[in-house]
Amino acid sequence: MAILLTGGAGFIGSHTSVELIKAGYDVVLVDDFSNSSPEVLNRLKTITGKEIPFFQGSILDKDFLTQVFQENDIEAVIHFAAFKAVGESVAQPLKYYHNNITGTISLLEVMQEQGVKKIVFSSSATVYGMNNVSPLTEDLPTSATNPYGYTKVMMEQILMDLAKADADWSVTLLRYFNPIGAHESGLIGEAPNGIPNNLMPYITQVAVGKLAELSVFGDDYDTADGTGVRDYIHVVDLANGHALALKHNLTEKGTHIFNLGTGNGYSVLDLVKAFEAENKVAVPYVIKERRPGDIATCYADASKAKEVLGWTAQKDLHDMMRDSWKWQSQNPNGYDK
Ligand code: UD1
Repeated sequence: MAILLTGGAGFIGSHTSVELIKAGYDVVLVDDFSNSSPEVLNRLKTITGKEIPFFQGSILDKDFLTQVFQENDIEAVIHFAAFKAVGESVAQPLKYYHNNITGTISLLEVMQEQGVKKIVFSSSATVYGMNNVSPLTEDLPTSATNPYGYTKVMMEQILMDLAKADADWSVTLLRYFNPIGAHESGLIGEAPNGIPNNLMPYITQVAVGKLAELSVFGDDYDTADGTGVRDYIHVVDLANGHALALKHNLTEKGTHIFNLGTGNGYSVLDLVKAFEAENKVAVPYVIKERRPGDIATCYADASKAKEVLGWTAQKDLHDMMRDSWKWQSQNPNGYDK
């Protein structure tokens, strides 16, 4: 029996593959490389010593997916495959709704046809919207402010409705906070296309000399230093959260929702200073206007994952800064040679 990872070559999918293999699972990966590189597969082989079964294609293609299920003994799915850039989703909403929502429905239909009714879903703290106050607990109302966020809210709803309609389904929704860091080998990491939208890859690309300076989006928030506060979590901790959530999903039917965060908040300037101190590299920055749609503070109440899954983040800010830099400095152009 194997676990199918859609979007398995992406940042979180690749790290989760490594931790699942370490935990004794067989994994099968599907990816269309729309936001990832085939080179990831070589790196995964080096790290794990295994040739991981891989199928290139889109989850929108039901014939392709059906074939993957027929050729492999799939027990459960971890569903990462989705577009995730907020700004692009505002500019191209149909692209986001089609890929993320139609893609998820296509996957769920094939799973249902094939009698595989266990799914762990890659959700986001973005579903807590603008109005909830941190620390955020899983029972808070969800909302969104942009098409990307709406796709996450809707995909969660679709999955919950499915589990309500058919008691055989096991649905686990994992709400990630801000994943950063990289595998300790420096062989896999986050490799965004073009100019990064997110803070950590922007910092590392400034540090490596690809970008001139960081723009800090606002220093007048109601936080200790005025810059935005987020719950940064090491991607390997996040990957281990998937391994434990999967174990739970395999035996517990119904819907289960977990935050995957550390419960600690750090500001933009905390990150810049921690990165410079850890790696002895300068990160020049300028203060700019607030970014539309940003909130002051967002961090998890991570107690449910601890109580139910026995999961807590093990790595601290030093580890995140060191490993993010190891990845970027060893791979200045990401997976492109
Ligand atoms: C963003 C998305 C969120 C998505 C998540 C994962 C927005 C509004 N939110 O979260 O929906 O789930 O990424 O992809 O885009 N910052 C700077 N300069 C930069 C980049 C960021 O100062 O160049 C600041 C931001 O204002 C924020 C913090 O850094 O305070 C973190 O930003 P980011 O890494 O983009 O994550 P989120 O906005 O939390």
